[in-house]
Amino acid sequence: MTDTVDNPFFARLWSRMSTREPESIRKLRRENLVGLSGRVLEVGAGTGTNFAFYPATVTQVVAIEPERRLAVIARQAAHEASVPITVSTDTVEKYQAGDPFDAVVCSLVLCSVDDPDGVLRQLFSMLRPGGELRYLEHVASTGPREQLQKIADATLWPRLLGNCHTHRDTERSILDAGFEVSDARREWMMPAWVPLPVSETAIGRAVRPG
Ligand SMILES: C[S@@+](CC[C@H](N)C(=O)[O-])C[C@H]1O[C@@H](n2cnc3c(N)ncnc32)[C@H](O)[C@@H]1O
Repeated sequence: MTDTVDNPFFARLWSRMSTREPESIRKLRRENLVGLSGRVLEVGAGTGTNFAFYPATVTQVVAIEPERRLAVIARQAAHEASVPITVSTDTVEKYQAGDPFDAVVCSLVLCSVDDPDGVLRQLFSMLRPGGELRYLEHVASTGPREQLQKIADATLWPRLLGNCHTHRDTERSILDAGFEVSDARREWMMPAWVPLPVSETAIGRAVRPG
């Protein structure tokens, strides 16, 4: 079980990068949260970039962010949000849920947890029947970019970038955890010609069957 997350270099980098996101990514963040209501769990909230985009129908967000430097920034973002948000510094693996959530939000985080299959099974169990997982995650590509991802994952990328793994079949893991994907598509975070291993992104909704 992952007890702590301590990534000073990544925290510094991410706190800068997240203030400079292009509108194309913000648009996807907004879309990922549209129509949510009730109690929401957000996993690995980073600096709280999603917080401004929660609709007023959300009554409470529990945001988990175990990297303490990022959690400090997320708490500031929580104060400025228009819905009530609390930030916990537990890892998702350690977090003890009480009542089931109406929705779980994962954005750019399932690449970074040690055991995505285990975490997705845990998130499934934390949702009420009929509850939704909303995800915005970069995913494994095919063709030449697949090779780039495998090289990145075997070298410095995860060590420098907060345990980010680029060649994960996250949508397969979502299905294997028991979710039913109700709506999903692929998007490019950067233009497809940019040789980055994290460009191809899945955005979707998956339901815990009732
Ligand atoms: C790439 S950042 C994305 C942050 C945010 N979700 C966003 O969309 O901007 C990944 C985040 O996941 C967090 N994280 C990594 N391992 C985690 C774990 N085991 N439990 C919860 N969060 C974790 C990191 O601290 C980091 O803030």
